[in-house]
Amino acid sequence: MNNQLLIDKTIAFVKKELEGAEGGHDWFHIQRVYTNARTIAKGEKVDSLTVALGALLHDIADAKFHDGDETVGPRIARDFMKSIDVDKAVISHVIRIMENSSFKNSLEKKGDTTFTSPELQVVQDADRLDAIGAIGIARAFNYGGFKNRELYNPAIVPNLNMTKEEYKKTTAPTINHFYEKLLLLKDRMNTETGKEMAEKRHRFMLDFLEQFYKEWEGR
Ligand code: ADP
Ligand code: NI
Repeated sequence: MNNQLLIDKTIAFVKKELEGAEGGHDWFHIQRVYTNARTIAKGEKVDSLTVALGALLHDIADAKFHDGDETVGPRIARDFMKSIDVDKAVISHVIRIMENSSFKNSLEKKGDTTFTSPELQVVQDADRLDAIGAIGIARAFNYGGFKNRELYNPAIVPNLNMTKEEYKKTTAPTINHFYEKLLLLKDRMNTETGKEMAEKRHRFMLDFLEQFYKEWEGR
């Protein structure tokens, strides 16, 4: 099967898997990450099939969809890729990308020498870009609403030293999430293209926060 056919089949599979997913992690999130990944990949020496499959499958691994069991997503993805005869080495690489692309995982493995590859770096950047800027703001408040969080509470200060467990359990207002995660992402970008794109989206979030506080005080 040629690569484009493998990608098309994967798109159809992912769309079906993500039916009914919450707004921040739905098919359109995957579509944006896939688009970002292709843009970023143009400036990098990477295997484009691995990047495409990694971007398309990266959130099938999200344990939130599988009652916290982090092995379910990779298993589903592996079975699917086998069923369409993806090359064995590509399958293993995509699985490692899935296991390592999330921010929570990279938090957990802080300081560790974990798996990395140019393809993982592209997918990671593409996913991080979708957590910042206008889309990132929308996703954060969507998530906060889903969790019934306050928008903002001046009495609850951001916690910059959360463990993975605390990060999962936090009930802090959504504005705190900007300081705990979103504003940190631009300095974690791997690629040149990713860094440039992140810089613009970062500035947009700073402008948003400035305006938010002005309006909070009735200015
Ligand atoms: P990833 O896409 O890396 O798996 P998450 O699952 O942590 O990231 O988050 C998905 C989306 O929900 C992101 O846009 C993220 O910013 C947002 N989000 C996650 N945790 C919070 C939170 N505590 N408050 C507000 N938004 C959040
Ligand atoms: Ni994602």
